[in-house]
Amino acid sequence: MKKVLVATEKPFSQVAVDEIRIIVEEAGYKLELLEKYTSEAELLDAVAHAEALIVRSDKVTSKVLEAAKDLKIVVRAGAGYDNLDLDACNEKGVVAMNTPGQNSNAVAELVFGMMIYGIRKQFSGASGTELRGKSLGIHAYGNVGYYVGKIAEGFGMKVYGYDPYVGADRMQAHGVEPLSSVEELYRTCEFVSLHIPANDITKNSINKALLSMMPQGAVLINTARKEVIAEDELLEVMEERPDFMYLSDIAPSNAQVIAEKFPDRFFFTPKKMGAQTEEANVNAGMAAARQIVSYFLTGDETHRVNR
Ligand code: 3PG
Repeated sequence: MKKVLVATEKPFSQVAVDEIRIIVEEAGYKLELLEKYTSEAELLDAVAHAEALIVRSDKVTSKVLEAAKDLKIVVRAGAGYDNLDLDACNEKGVVAMNTPGQNSNAVAELVFGMMIYGIRKQFSGASGTELRGKSLGIHAYGNVGYYVGKIAEGFGMKVYGYDPYVGADRMQAHGVEPLSSVEELYRTCEFVSLHIPANDITKNSINKALLSMMPQGAVLINTARKEVIAEDELLEVMEERPDFMYLSDIAPSNAQVIAEKFPDRFFFTPKKMGAQTEEANVNAGMAAARQIVSYFLTGDETHRVNR
C-alpha cells in the first residue's frame, strides 16, 4: 500500500487533515502524519518509506530526499517552493509540485490586518491614519496580488501593480493600474505589498535605493519571504526615515534590533501565519492530496515545478 506522508512543522487545521485523509484513503493509500516536529532527524526517519510527501514551508533538502528512498512525488501545499531542493528532486527523479492559488486569499487578508494594525498605532488608542485614498503598490501580481487588489478596492485605495511577467491588460481588467518599472511602483506608492518569490533574481532586491524612493508615510508590507529584503539596508532606511514603517509576516534576521529601535514602526507576526486559516489549509491540503492521487493514477503533472 502506498504511503503518503504529511510532514508539517506548522500543522494544518484538523479539518484539513481529515479532508486529506479522506482523499488519500479513498484512493487506497495510507496516510501518515508528522506534525510539529522539532528536528530534521524526525523528518528523515518519517520519510523513509513514503512514496508521496505533502509539506508546507518544511525544508525538503537533498538529505531528506536521500533518506526518502521510495519517494516519487513531493507537493508543497502552498505557493512558494523555495523550500524544495529542485536540483536534488531532479537528481532523484522525484516530481515536485505546488498548489498555486489555494491559500492566496488568506495571505491577502492578513496584508490588510497588518496594515490597519500598523497605521492605527498598533491598537494603542493613539490617533492613526486611514487606508482610504492612499496609494497601494502590488509588487508581483500573482494570485495573492490579485486578492490584495480586490480588497484594496473595497478600502477605496488607489491600486498600482508591477510585474514583468504579467500583462498590463490583466491588471487593467481588475482595476489595477500597471506601472512599467519597479522604481515607478516604489516612487508612486505610500504602501507597497510584496508578493515576489525568493529566488536568485529577487533575493536582497528590496534595497535602500528602492525603499528610499517611497513617498512620505511609507509602509512596506512583507507576506512573501524575508530573503527578498536587504535587511541591513532596511535598517538604514528605518534609521534615516522616521516616517517609514515595516510590517512583516516573516521575522527578519535582525528583528530584535529593529524592534528595540523602532517599536512603533515595526511589527512582525511571531510565526509566519499568512496562510494559516482553516480555509487555506483545507484548500491547499486537499489540492495537494488530489494532485498526488491524480499523478499516481494518470501521470498528471499539472503544477509540476521541476520540469
Ligand atoms: C506559501 O508560499 O504558500 C505561503 O508562504 C504559505 O506558507 P506556509 O504553508 O508555510 O504557511
